[in-house]
Amino acid sequence: MNLFSKTIVGLDIGTSSVKLVELKKVNDRWKLMAMGVTDIPRESLDTKNPDQQRLVVADTIKKTYEKSGIKIKKVATALLGESIIIRYVKMPFMTEEELRKTISKEAEQHIPLSMDQVVLDFQILGESQEDGQRKIDVLLVASKNDLVDQHISTLKAAGLTPTIIDVDAFALQNIYEINRLESNEETVALINVGATWTTINILEGIFTRFTRDIPVAGNDFTKEIQKEFNLKFSEAEELKKVHGAISIEEEEFTLSSVSQKDDRVLRMSDVMTPILNKLLGEIRRSFDYYETQSRKKTVERVILCGGSAKLKNLNRFLAGKLGVPVEHFGVFRNIEMSKNIDVEQQSDKELYLGVCLGLALRQLES
Ligand SMILES: Nc1ncnc2c1ncn2[C@@H]1O[C@H](COP(=O)(O)OP(=O)(O)OP(=O)(O)O)[C@@H](O)[C@H]1O
Ligand SMILES: [Mg+2]
Repeated sequence: MNLFSKTIVGLDIGTSSVKLVELKKVNDRWKLMAMGVTDIPRESLDTKNPDQQRLVVADTIKKTYEKSGIKIKKVATALLGESIIIRYVKMPFMTEEELRKTISKEAEQHIPLSMDQVVLDFQILGESQEDGQRKIDVLLVASKNDLVDQHISTLKAAGLTPTIIDVDAFALQNIYEINRLESNEETVALINVGATWTTINILEGIFTRFTRDIPVAGNDFTKEIQKEFNLKFSEAEELKKVHGAISIEEEEFTLSSVSQKDDRVLRMSDVMTPILNKLLGEIRRSFDYYETQSRKKTVERVILCGGSAKLKNLNRFLAGKLGVPVEHFGVFRNIEMSKNIDVEQQSDKELYLGVCLGLALRQLES
């Protein structure tokens, strides 16, 4: 390994699994050199205090490194959910340099936390005129100090060097940009359904217009199944992965014929439905908010990923209810594959890797 390598790897530490990828630029195209996905042993987490839990996660990261054969220890990682606050705000016109000096004063008005509790970052997205005054459109990201510190201590416990701490929603945007069709200017909603969080990023072309993390996802389905069948979490998880499906009205017949042998399928669908409706309600609220803000534009397509996008019929359920096409995110569409990554691994893990690939794209410039 070259210690001075500019290459960093993408490491996505989810609440249920750790994902790791190494990307390399070869003749202007990205190539996936190696990858690894490992479940975090959840039952061993439940009984432990936060410090011990972080060690379990660090241990899972180490295992993922071993399995993947990846040696590079410089990582780009991300935070999401309650660890971060994202705001799109208008500020009086100033240069980037000027803003850097006054950012915490400006941010005070928009972030409901004291400035000494947060790490701030910003990006100037563009300029606009308001009431005859020159303004800048700024993306503000604040992350809570203590949560950033805990995140870094997990990385250090795994023997890693943190280089970039990003945000899940923006990592998704990165990988979308690589894979979309050149001319595609439509409004799409990227939706990553994980274990604890569902991340939405609404983009016009390649520009993010709205992001939100909703605290409803795969674990909520599993917990309902666990209660219904009186199982351990891991057993419910397995049952959901192998036999779980959402019943679609026009398909009631097909699903019930499957379930003559196994009525668990219908029972699972029934207990998952209230959670699913809650998730749908939150997605609709996000779309409504975006559509009110943007006035003319509407979400034209949903691109779905995350481990829970594998839940059978989730895509069809959302398409029916939202009234727009819903497709699975082909995160590898424009990525070349190294020979040691087999086709089965690719199709099995593709939906998991959106955020992680987006992180690995943030290669260091100097
Ligand atoms: N075949 C499947 N059917 C249903 N759910 C599945 C399937 N495969 C994986 N999942 C679910 O995907 C989730 C894990 O996805 P992912 O790895 O994207 O989450 P995470 O990144 O660990 O979580 P988060 O980002 O919310 O912290 C789990 O809830 C798991 O049960
Ligand atoms: Mg995740």
